[in-house]
Amino acid sequence: MENPVGVFDSGVGGLTVLRELVSALPSERFVYLGDTARVPYGGKSAETVTRYAIEIANHLIRTRDIKLLVVACNTASSLALPVLRRIYKIPVVGMVDPCVRRAAALPEKRTIGVIGTLGTVRSGAYEEALRLSVPSARVRSIPCPLLVSLAEEGWVDNAITRAVIAEYLAPFLEDRPDALILGCTHYPVLKGPIREYLGSGTVLIDSAEEAARIVDILLSETQVRRDVAPGAVEFLVTDDPERFARVGKGFFGRELPDVGGVAL
Ligand code: DGL
Repeated sequence: MENPVGVFDSGVGGLTVLRELVSALPSERFVYLGDTARVPYGGKSAETVTRYAIEIANHLIRTRDIKLLVVACNTASSLALPVLRRIYKIPVVGMVDPCVRRAAALPEKRTIGVIGTLGTVRSGAYEEALRLSVPSARVRSIPCPLLVSLAEEGWVDNAITRAVIAEYLAPFLEDRPDALILGCTHYPVLKGPIREYLGSGTVLIDSAEEAARIVDILLSETQVRRDVAPGAVEFLVTDDPERFARVGKGFFGRELPDVGGVAL
């Protein structure tokens, strides 16, 4: 049996990333771990999120012998990625670099917006990476923590969600960004109302799509990409598999069969 790709998030959000991964790499085996006992990560300190991320990575390496780790959580990517990359020998893919690569490749990138959790924005990880890759861009970051709960409620085509988006994103209308990085795993679900608010002049950069593209390239380059036989996905959570399966369906786009519980 070939080694799977490990994917983790604080909860259901990373399923938007897994969805893109499965669609880009349908023959691959994946194991997804949602840390539902300790969600949300968005308001927690760098020390705490890093400790959680190490516990999860250790578990996936020890029990599943994963060949690559995808940190499918923007907060954990922003706060813990350098530490994870120092500790582990396997490749570790986060959400920040893939988005920044995409922003750097855009023809228009005078102004770039970033939205994410409090932890992601406070870390300055996107700003720092954009400063190095797109030094001429003016970057404005806005934390939008309430969007996580609205996405989990499934409130997409909804007046309250539109009002919250307008409240958070209003500063972007003063100087409309050429690109907006959706720097949180939950935001792809809300792409419709975000696009509606900002208009078509702003390119939305989706961390899930960009990360899947990078994982595809990495697996091909390192020749550990699995191309035969159907792939498979194993789901693990640290609490409440029933809620994970129910809410996660909207993020993954289909039923989540056999969600298993795990103690780290
Ligand atoms: N998955 C988190 C992120 O992408 C959002 C949810 C949380 O705060 O844990 O930042």
